[in-house]
Amino acid sequence: MIFNKLATCCVIAALPGMAAADVLSFTVGGGVPRNWAQQAAPYLEILADRFGLKYWYTALSASDANRFSIKIARMLTGRPRILMFNLAYHGTVDETLKWTLEPGVVQRRFHVDYEPDQDPAATTRIATWNDLESVEDALRHGDVALVISEPALTNTGIVMPEPGFHEGLRALCTRYGAYLLIDETHTLSEGPRGCTGEWGLEPDFWVAGKAIASGVPCAVYGFNEEVGERLAVLLAADDPHAIRIQHGRQSLYRALHQ
Ligand SMILES: Cc1ncc(COP(=O)(O)O)c(C=O)c1O
Repeated sequence: MIFNKLATCCVIAALPGMAAADVLSFTVGGGVPRNWAQQAAPYLEILADRFGLKYWYTALSASDANRFSIKIARMLTGRPRILMFNLAYHGTVDETLKWTLEPGVVQRRFHVDYEPDQDPAATTRIATWNDLESVEDALRHGDVALVISEPALTNTGIVMPEPGFHEGLRALCTRYGAYLLIDETHTLSEGPRGCTGEWGLEPDFWVAGKAIASGVPCAVYGFNEEVGERLAVLLAADDPHAIRIQHGRQSLYRALHQ
């Protein structure tokens, strides 16, 4: 399967027309062997073509890809919360291990306090699947950085979206300034372009793990041009940390090739 090769690519970004070295300096500030970016280039084009997003990174699990996307959305919006659908599952992401059993009350999904001393609602708002009114009620507060959704709910039986639901969700995210993440970790099996390609969804972030690398522990997350350009500015300003990452990657590369 073509995506097997993704597991060997460290960090990737789909930047048609850019030299491989520029791709690298965008993604990790340099320091990674050039041929990694060159090897990644054809796969970037496939990802961009199938899922409609320009920039891509790899992670080791879909949970982590969701986590990184949430982090980026919070950094860019300055907003603390995410919005999820009740009974959805997005991996071991603290913000999404929540549900609501009584209207308006956000609870931890497990009876283990994995966020000591924190109000479960501090990071999370919960809407009802197929209910755009509940989405708008949550977004109206203006504190949601990112809405995370599967194309169809898959972890509570399979609940398909009603006609117009995804169009409405996209429009509400745009209206209220929240990013939209589509998590295709399960629904990728819909076809080579997942539900995103097949149904014409328009996410700002897109995540898949598991099947994307045929069982190799690997995930990808992509994001649109606006996110990529704003993120590049933030990362460029983060010098001391970028240098530490760069040194780490160089050592790892040397260790692997000695
Ligand atoms: C929709 C969805 N997203 C994310 C995940 C997390 O995947 P991973 O185990 O790769 O972190 C799962 C796990 O089943 C999932 O169903």
